[in-house]
Amino acid sequence: MTAGIRVTDLVKRFGGVPAVDHVSFEVGKGEFVSLLGPSGCGKTTTLRCIGGYERPTGGTIEIAGKIVNDVPVHRREIGMVFQNYALFPHKTVAENVGFALKMRGAPRDERRVRVGEALDLVEMPGYEDRYPAQLSSGQRQRVALARALIHRPSVLLLDEPLANLDRKLRQTMRVELKLIQERVGISTIFVTHDQEEALVMSDRIAVMEGGRIHQLATPSETYHRPATSFVATFIGETNFLEGEVTAVEAGQARVRVAGDRVLTVEAADGCTPGRRVGVTVRPERIDIAREAPAGAPNLATGRIEFVTYLGSIASYRILVGGGQRIHVTQPIAGDRAPFGEGETVAIWWAPDRGLIVV
Ligand SMILES: Nc1ncnc2c1ncn2[C@@H]1O[C@H](COP(=O)(O)OP(=O)(O)O)[C@@H](O)[C@H]1O
Ligand SMILES: [Mg+2]
Repeated sequence: MTAGIRVTDLVKRFGGVPAVDHVSFEVGKGEFVSLLGPSGCGKTTTLRCIGGYERPTGGTIEIAGKIVNDVPVHRREIGMVFQNYALFPHKTVAENVGFALKMRGAPRDERRVRVGEALDLVEMPGYEDRYPAQLSSGQRQRVALARALIHRPSVLLLDEPLANLDRKLRQTMRVELKLIQERVGISTIFVTHDQEEALVMSDRIAVMEGGRIHQLATPSETYHRPATSFVATFIGETNFLEGEVTAVEAGQARVRVAGDRVLTVEAADGCTPGRRVGVTVRPERIDIAREAPAGAPNLATGRIEFVTYLGSIASYRILVGGGQRIHVTQPIAGDRAPFGEGETVAIWWAPDRGLIVV
């Protein structure tokens, strides 16, 4: 972990109110970790503490094995890209990118060579003499990245760097940014409120809410094994049913939900009879047909209230007994959804397709 980042028990209060509330995590050498959560959950404050732009109320921050709490920003070996990338408008691309080297007293010739290398890295060779106003928003963001990387920092901190780009460009830049990060092999913390961005780019994702981390895991674990109901509902679409455990047997739990339906789900730690739990099942993991096969588990019948045709998938909102609405999606090949509004259908799912969150 020597070139990585370790945050231990970080607390940051503003006038008594905690913005970051006992946060601990590590980023390994070359690893890409996202801080993901809704607006106001403490992502930027966490990042600014690591970068040295905020002073922690408590806890320690280690970069490359050294505690840096008392080390000023310009000595921290970090490169940071802010949400509003803030290039100097009256400086050229070369002056912007070379800024950190100039501050560190690097000679002009060395600066010129290193600026050239940094611009090659972000695939903008030859742009030295342009001004920010003469660049597209995607190019400006790449210049900001080159500026953050030029002094060869040991960690890269990115605060919603793609948030101001339009949708199409954001999708392209995700991949480009990730490729650059991999090429440089730099430990990176990426702040975003966009779950798709985090899923696409990260080695691991820390899902935050209210100044705390709910779960720190790979994108796949975060999606398929959410640790809390917050994670289950924040990442992707899910159906979330609350109920009471009535029995646990042979690794499976029975959970009574609204409408007196009893679901069978793989048991989880801490799910004991009498306990109230949540059951989450993703829309794409539910089967749908006019009639269910014999013995179909977790079977319900319901009426389709709403159909959305999304090109390669159909999405249904189905009203089942107990007044619950279940969302089901189905891959389709044809030009229309197989089931229509008002139809009565059967839906069911195998016990290992749902998950209990306690
Ligand atoms: N300088 C500040 N002074 C007072 N409160 C702040 C300051 N910076 C952030 N906060 C508060 O801390 C909380 C977390 O903010 P922030 O870290 O910016 O969240 P995020 O980046 O996840 O949207 C919010 O409630 C915000 O209002
Ligand atoms: Mg923020």
